[in-house]
Amino acid sequence: MSEMVIETEGLHKVFRTRRGTGYAVRDLNLAVPAGGVHGFLGPNGSGKTTTIRMLLGLAAPTRGRMRLFGRDVPHHLPEVLPRIGAVVESPKFAPNFSGRQNLQLLAGTIGVPATRVDEVLETVSLGGRDRDRFRAYSLGMKQRLAIAATLLKDPDLLILDEPTNGLDPSGIREIRETIRELGGRGVTVLLSSHILAEVQQVCDSATIIGRGRMLASGRVDDLIGAGTTWRVGVPDPVSACGALTAAGLTSRVADGRLVVETDAPESVTRVLAAAGIYLTELVAERADLESVFLQLTEGTSLDDTATRLTEPDTTYDEGGAPA
Ligand SMILES: Nc1ncnc2c1ncn2[C@@H]1O[C@H](COP(=O)(O)OP(=O)(O)O)[C@@H](O)[C@H]1O
Ligand SMILES: [Mg+2]
Repeated sequence: MSEMVIETEGLHKVFRTRRGTGYAVRDLNLAVPAGGVHGFLGPNGSGKTTTIRMLLGLAAPTRGRMRLFGRDVPHHLPEVLPRIGAVVESPKFAPNFSGRQNLQLLAGTIGVPATRVDEVLETVSLGGRDRDRFRAYSLGMKQRLAIAATLLKDPDLLILDEPTNGLDPSGIREIRETIRELGGRGVTVLLSSHILAEVQQVCDSATIIGRGRMLASGRVDDLIGAGTTWRVGVPDPVSACGALTAAGLTSRVADGRLVVETDAPESVTRVLAAAGIYLTELVAERADLESVFLQLTEGTSLDDTATRLTEPDTTYDEGGAPA
């Protein structure tokens, strides 16, 4: 134990609703090493927000243990909270104050020097717009201000629950760059996301959960880096598939489309050209979360989750980034 910044053991959370009992988190053993960006990847409703809320003392586990910086929480939460920054719920800022004024107010409240405000504005690249009113900010700027606010106290651990949800592409890019930069500086970042590509781009290591259970954990390259899938456009997929298979390439026709698994796409071009078949396109298919999931759950049974809520419960809203 204890090179780990976040650890849980058999963490369990049961919710009782009008529709019955449901498991949000089941026997989760999370281990987040110090330094770098750790992805917490799972589809909507898989238990990410619930886990994070339990870690931060915002929800009580049904059972299980949790440690932050090697200290049992929630018991020792007051000790470790000063080292943790978190953006879980939409943060409250004064709409008529500028971003800078909001941060100054906060800096005063938590007792950090005002010079720190300039540093964190710089880190999240809000420098140019810091004197605009908060209410005029785009969603991406509001989100970056929220991250800036948590950075004021110079945390060792930053927990971000789906920070790019609802942002436009440029907002997403900026947040991702900010997160990478923080990870590079030695801050441990827990980044929850339902987007595989985001975790692939930003994270060093990741834990994948589905239906409240851990499916896999480890270095991102090991988890989702396996051979690339290529979609190949040809006039006759079936005969092209035959030519590729004869040449030793792993290929198949799915839904009338030719798909090849290889790390050497040039071999596809070569083999098909030699067979007198010319491509109209060769497109790398992103491994999607769904297929990673299917691979991960192959052979293991998820059927013992009968009492689980199957659909996200829409009768509540705790501001925890639904859908
Ligand atoms: N306060 C609550 N009451 C009842 N069910 C809840 C509550 N919070 C979460 N859940 C359920 O727990 C499951 C996990 O939700 P959540 O942790 O928000 O998932 P994620 O953040 O991965 O989208 C979902 O099925 C959700 O409906
Ligand atoms: Mg969530």
